[in-house]
Amino acid sequence: MRLGFYNLQGGTGKTTIAGNIAYYLSDKAKTIYVDCDIYAGSGAILFGLENAQHTLNSYLSGNSGLNDSINHYRDLAVIVSDSTPNAFNTDIDQKRLLELIETLNENYDIVILDLPPNITEGNLLFSSLNLEEKVVSKMIVVAEDSIPGIANTLKTIELLYALDIDVVGVIVNKYRDITNFEEVLEDVMAVLPYDEKVELQWVEAVPIIEKKSKFSRELSYLAEDLAEVYIQKDLAALRALKLAKELKEIGLKKVDEEE
Ligand SMILES: Nc1ncnc2c1ncn2[C@@H]1O[C@H](COP(=O)(O)OP(=O)(O)OP(=O)(O)O)[C@@H](O)[C@H]1O
Ligand SMILES: [Mg+2]
Repeated sequence: MRLGFYNLQGGTGKTTIAGNIAYYLSDKAKTIYVDCDIYAGSGAILFGLENAQHTLNSYLSGNSGLNDSINHYRDLAVIVSDSTPNAFNTDIDQKRLLELIETLNENYDIVILDLPPNITEGNLLFSSLNLEEKVVSKMIVVAEDSIPGIANTLKTIELLYALDIDVVGVIVNKYRDITNFEEVLEDVMAVLPYDEKVELQWVEAVPIIEKKSKFSRELSYLAEDLAEVYIQKDLAALRALKLAKELKEIGLKKVDEEE
């Protein structure tokens, strides 16, 4: 399952939420977090991987292998982006982008894609539109509790609809009771409070969801809901498949014995 986090507005909390949810889910299923912001990604800081040699940029430009570009933070697989000036030398090789999508599909139960804001060709969301498979087919929109935040969220939903990308729902973040978002936004999945402790994760390079805070509590409820909807269903299907296989094997054994 590939799940993207996006808003055309910057700074709404996409990286914070995507990175922390990915980390939470890595405890339950094989999960990878991909920082798709190839010009200004901050996912590396969140996981203390700023010095990673191989990045999404070097992979997409053909200078690194895909496996070399996969780092780990505990059980979570992580692909980071290059946020040095060298990022400007990135060439997105479409064949490599498609190979990335296919490999992630095959090797991980959950793929969390942290998308950059904006509507540019350098945004993997848009550069993948002509491929056989888009980088994201299911999207969560992260909205900021402010008037421009809500206006940009409505624009983002309209844009995703035009691109035929399924919007799973909206997370209202940095909630401080500023707007009457309930009156205009449909499908609000969670409301996450403004919480100064969120900043700590950039200093400590530890996901905030590990720490006790108002924000972490609400975010873990959301991650748990996502786990139930997406993982349990898949696991149930896998278990049913395994059971069917076992029953078939028992059946075959019986036939053997009778013969
Ligand atoms: N609920 C919150 N309470 C307080 N601060 C928050 C909250 N969520 C995010 N922040 C802070 O807001 C800033 C932007 O967060 P983040 O980098 O996750 O946003 P983003 O949408 O990924 O930004 P960009 O568009 O640049 O990729 C960070 O300093 C982060 O710590
Ligand atoms: Mg970000």
